[in-house]
Amino acid sequence: MAERHRRNRYLSISILHVITMMCQALSEGPLFAEPIPNVTVAVGRDASLPCVINNLGTYKVAWLHVGRQMLLTIHTHVVVKMPRFSISHDKQKTWLLRIQNVQQQDRGYYMCQVNTVPMISQVGYLQVVVPPNILDTLSTESTVAVKEHQNITLTCKAEGYPTPTLMWRREDGHSIPIDRRSKVEKYLGEQLNLTKITRTEMGAYLCIATNGIPPTVSKRITVDVEFSPTIFVPNQLMGAPAGKNVTLECNVEAHPRAISYWNFNNTMVLSNDKYTSTIMESSYRTNMQLTIRNLQSSDFGSYRCISKNSLGETEGSIRLYEMAQPSAPPTATEIRSSANKEGRQYSTPSPPKRHTTVWPAAYNPYPKRTERPPSSQKDIDRQERKHQGQSSGSAYIIRWSAPQLMVVAIQYILTGPYMPPYVPQYAN
Ligand SMILES: *[C@@H]1O[C@H](CO)[C@@H](O)[C@H](O)[C@H]1NC(C)=O
Ligand SMILES: *[C@@H]1O[C@H](CO)[C@@H](O)[C@H](O)[C@H]1NC(C)=O
Ligand SMILES: *[C@@H]1O[C@H](CO)[C@@H](O)[C@H](O)[C@H]1NC(C)=O
Ligand SMILES: *[C@@H]1O[C@H](CO)[C@@H](O)[C@H](O)[C@H]1NC(C)=O
Ligand SMILES: *[C@@H]1O[C@H](CO)[C@@H](O)[C@H](O)[C@H]1NC(C)=O
Repeated sequence: MAERHRRNRYLSISILHVITMMCQALSEGPLFAEPIPNVTVAVGRDASLPCVINNLGTYKVAWLHVGRQMLLTIHTHVVVKMPRFSISHDKQKTWLLRIQNVQQQDRGYYMCQVNTVPMISQVGYLQVVVPPNILDTLSTESTVAVKEHQNITLTCKAEGYPTPTLMWRREDGHSIPIDRRSKVEKYLGEQLNLTKITRTEMGAYLCIATNGIPPTVSKRITVDVEFSPTIFVPNQLMGAPAGKNVTLECNVEAHPRAISYWNFNNTMVLSNDKYTSTIMESSYRTNMQLTIRNLQSSDFGSYRCISKNSLGETEGSIRLYEMAQPSAPPTATEIRSSANKEGRQYSTPSPPKRHTTVWPAAYNPYPKRTERPPSSQKDIDRQERKHQGQSSGSAYIIRWSAPQLMVVAIQYILTGPYMPPYVPQYAN
């Protein structure tokens, strides 16, 4: 009984053994254990492609570059005459093809072959990517000049793999007009056509090349828009009483940079005790002001602001006329002028509370330099109320004589809304 049991056990062990043997015989040939991965590498880096084989036995492994029909390695030997290639294996199972300093020509399918009959093989893909690069010699130079209202095409060429896309934008973030019809923040394309360019499109443009492979690169192109000076005169007619100071103003736009100065009586006005000329520049804009102190009758007349650059010369003119003195309350004037032989209020300048400068209401893109007169009727009303209070101290009153009102009306017709200059007076 026990003997039979033992024989049965022997039998089953033997059968198991036979089955195992048969299985081994069936799978005796080499087999790929896993596919070759697809590898992506940036140019200049190293890459390795593994080929994993079971039961290689005495068979040999070879690597080939399919596209170039090039045998690279057989067994442990590197066949190709390129020291960048090498082969290593780990216990006959993983055969690793290494490529150092990968080049663009290395891109493509790689085949791992085993010399069975028939032979077995599998392939994997090596992708070689190249970050974008802007080709300076084929692109627009970094500074270009164009006359206003002409066309200019900015070009950027870039290489890389995959092919980079080019995008344009302005460095200051302003929009780009396309065909003078639509405005865009960004424009895609190798060429940016700026048609009938205007001065507002002057500045730095960036072309940016991207293809998903860092780093992104850009080129900065400065576009200079050239035009002869243009002059805006905020107030072409200025009225002020004798004895006062007055400031004339012109706004100039010019590129290239212009030389700007004032003329009176056909001679250039130079800064001195009488005149102060100030010039404030920002980009292609210039604000020029001329302050004339202690106005005399010879100071009234026509002033010209003149601006010259390489493309031309422009001038603006301002007529400065004498304004009638507002009649003052006789008591206050007499008290104040008692120490004065001339006995006229305006012959001794009152303490300078504010300039009689007339500031344009609508057009003044420049930083303020001086105090401004009351900017609204409210301020004047408030001061009038203060005056009516008749408290001690000083207050301003506004009086309009008939000629003054005429002038205001003419000025309104000529240059738009008018800020009334006003005359400081003393009321006790
Ligand atoms: C590699 O890419 C090819 C297509 O390009 C694909 O057919 C194959 O399955 C990929 N292999 C692996 C291991 O992802
Ligand atoms: C500028 O481009 C516009 C539109 O493409 C064209 O009509 C015009 O003739 C061009 N001007 C010059 C000076 O080339
Ligand atoms: C830009 O201008 C060039 C010629 O200067 C022309 O060949 C091209 O088609 C224009 N591109 C666009 C988008 O208008
Ligand atoms: C004119 O300006 C000068 C110097 O800036 C100043 O001393 C004088 O008081 C001013 N006159 C008037 C009337 O504002
Ligand atoms: C203007 O110029 C003329 C001669 O050029 C001169 O006689 C006259 O005095 C000048 N007038 C003033 C206000 O400077």
